[in-house]
Amino acid sequence: MGELVMAAKITHVPSIWLSIQPGKHFGIRKPAEAALEEIGRRARERGADTFLVADTHWMNSIGFHLNGKERHSASYVSHELPHFIHDLEYDYAGDPELAELVREEIAAGGQKARVHTYKDLGLEYATLVPMYFMNGDSSIRVLPIGCNIYSTIEENRRIGEALLRAVRRSDRKVAFLASGSLSHAFPPNEIAESLLNDVSSEINRQVDMAVLDMWAEGRTADFVDMLPDYNRRCTGEGAMADTAMLFGLLGWRDYTGKGEQLCPYFGSSGTGQVVVDFPIPTEIA
Ligand SMILES: [Fe+2]
Repeated sequence: MGELVMAAKITHVPSIWLSIQPGKHFGIRKPAEAALEEIGRRARERGADTFLVADTHWMNSIGFHLNGKERHSASYVSHELPHFIHDLEYDYAGDPELAELVREEIAAGGQKARVHTYKDLGLEYATLVPMYFMNGDSSIRVLPIGCNIYSTIEENRRIGEALLRAVRRSDRKVAFLASGSLSHAFPPNEIAESLLNDVSSEINRQVDMAVLDMWAEGRTADFVDMLPDYNRRCTGEGAMADTAMLFGLLGWRDYTGKGEQLCPYFGSSGTGQVVVDFPIPTEIA
């Protein structure tokens, strides 16, 4: 029987990629770099053989989608911020078998999902930036699931439950990564560059800090009850689908694990960012 060995909320902001390039931004995201590397180290230590990544930059508008290619190999440039991320070469094994199990379980739960293997379907940077730090030797398979930007928190809770059923049916040790922001309000373009290291508003920062307290204290029931409102009021990235999948996978209101924060909360181009590793309850591992 397969096993869930990791469930983590992670950052993927392009400024982390800038941070490792020569130039004036070199080193600005050192703590986030270290946190992503630590997630990779822990995944290996726990025997993970697949990273299942809820990618908030693979934005779907109808249904749920998995990139089930045998191999992910290409060169990437961000259409959103080409000056931040370009010429990113990658080559990872995919996981068609787990993709199919996930599709079956999503369908069994009454929702629609498709597995794709189109040659031009590449990875997005919410997968690529973390993988660069976590999977440098490409030894762990990569399976992205997209985030439907028009989906509800409730739909994504059910997707998370389907992911867990699929993991259990597999023979894999799976590390699940919710790759997305906390608050995600971009500033107006005119002042965007001045907020490279900041959050758009004090309200968003305060709400994000309260969320981190809830996660650290295991107050998941309080958090998931307010998650639809949090998503709406703090401009959730990718409908906060990644976060809803994460807690759906972990047991939703019944989950009482205490998240371990691996880097200080930081602002990046107006958005709130963090890396948190959530313990897997023994009953679902
Ligand atoms: Fe993002």
